[in-house]
Amino acid sequence: MSGRIIPDILTKETVRAVFKGDIIGREMIFYEVTSSTNDRAMEIARQRNSGVDPGSTSQRKGIDGIVIIADAQECGRGRFGRDWISPAGMNLYFTVLLEPAFSPKEASIVTLMASVAVVSAIREHVNQNVVIKWPNDILIGAKKIGGILTEMKTSGGSISFIALGVGINVNMPLNMLPDDIRSFAASLKAETGENINRVQLLGGVLTKLEYWYKILLEGRREALLNEWMILNSTIGNKVSVKTRGTVISGKAEGISNNGELLLRLSSGTLEKLCSGEVTILKDSR
Ligand code: BTN
Repeated sequence: MSGRIIPDILTKETVRAVFKGDIIGREMIFYEVTSSTNDRAMEIARQRNSGVDPGSTSQRKGIDGIVIIADAQECGRGRFGRDWISPAGMNLYFTVLLEPAFSPKEASIVTLMASVAVVSAIREHVNQNVVIKWPNDILIGAKKIGGILTEMKTSGGSISFIALGVGINVNMPLNMLPDDIRSFAASLKAETGENINRVQLLGGVLTKLEYWYKILLEGRREALLNEWMILNSTIGNKVSVKTRGTVISGKAEGISNNGELLLRLSSGTLEKLCSGEVTILKDSR
């Protein structure tokens, strides 16, 4: 199909025509509609690894890199139990199963990896200043156009698998978003005025994921963190972070090796946060 126009229909054939990875997407599973690609991914991981000793890497049944893609989701999930609006034919919803030999403490780096892959792929498609807001938001200006939901199953102190879910609002008209979300969310088409081919964009994101996942597996975490620093809009700002039922404010000073946010409180204390919801305070640099 290469050299030909790729139809904007998510099938094995169209996606294979734009992307072939060694690890990511070795196997791709497509649904016209499913509940949630993260739920499907976790079911597949459990089925394939049933009977496998979770501590043993040699017994694993090769789920690393399986990609589950849906054209629509009936129960798309965001962080904090929120819904992820998932109509058919206009956006991207997919989950990548990973089995990295990291400790569960280091798993947040995978969210950073996905955000770097998504932002750099979108930047190659549209001429917009797309940025990452720690830890998982993909923004154009102050508008959220994508998000990452990283879920993990651990066993005996190690990672059994990670389900890395990615949602990108591609061609969705704004009137499909509920009123309360419309003030801070958008789609690539709403921001650029252009229709974007989802298959080409998905190919771009998977290509970047393959690149950065290999870098992580080679132990070159610093290269990923450097790229994340270039693409993020959080560090250097005064922020408030809702985390574990409280809100704390301070200056976002940097990121740890595992992807935690380093927050300098007004008392001078440096807090390390592994999750939370960041608000960037106005005029904060
Ligand atoms: C967020 O920003 O809160 C995360 C949104 C993640 C949405 C994606 S869509 C594909 C995958 N399946 C889900 O149910 N959620 C993730």
